[in-house]
Amino acid sequence: MLIAGNWKMFKGPAETLAFCREFPPPDGVDVVVCPPYASLREAMATGLTVYAQNVHWEREGAFTGEVSAEMLLELGVAGSLVGHSERRQHFGETDETAAWRAERALEAGLAVIACVGELENERERGETEAVLRRQVSPLPRHERLVVAYEPVWAIGTGKTATPAMAQEAHALIKSLLAVPVLYGGSVKPENAGELLAQPDVDGALVGGASLDVESFTAICQTAARLSRS
Ligand code: PGA
Repeated sequence: MLIAGNWKMFKGPAETLAFCREFPPPDGVDVVVCPPYASLREAMATGLTVYAQNVHWEREGAFTGEVSAEMLLELGVAGSLVGHSERRQHFGETDETAAWRAERALEAGLAVIACVGELENERERGETEAVLRRQVSPLPRHERLVVAYEPVWAIGTGKTATPAMAQEAHALIKSLLAVPVLYGGSVKPENAGELLAQPDVDGALVGGASLDVESFTAICQTAARLSRS
């Protein structure tokens, strides 16, 4: 079971250090935090496993504002998210560029969590399966690849997919690509248990609730308990 905390554009170096010093990663579950680039070093200094939130597909070059896998590896970062829906929505990320990022990062030696998920109107039109097939198909097969299913309508909204909806989407993704699949979208201590108990849910990508030591710890403990049972 893997629980990853996506901090988005929250927590500079000082807040990161304070969080990581206070946060006890529970036994029996793999825990990863994804701070902003500016705070990666502080998070790593506390011994936690640290991923970036994005990574470019070239080693170096004229790509203002981007960071390469080699640079992250030099810093000691273990992996990266790619294709998060906020990157797709606000920064022009496409299925193709997300796949390039994943492929190059894996080749360079990073682990990757590739995010996929349908928009609300896509679900309403019955297009969820087609969208997931389109997003998953360009991703490379790799032992260090994990997919995160994050229905876009559930991110930061307090709306969560029902456990049955999550299970159905995860089973589809796994039929396309045999990799662990995390659920993301308003995961909280109150709903983590029922989502993580689904047979094809292998962990969670947690946004808002990962910013608070108490709620992130509670989610990690739930995952550890379920892994033991
Ligand atoms: P949320 O974010 O848990 O705040 O909904 C999840 C994510 O964006 O990865």
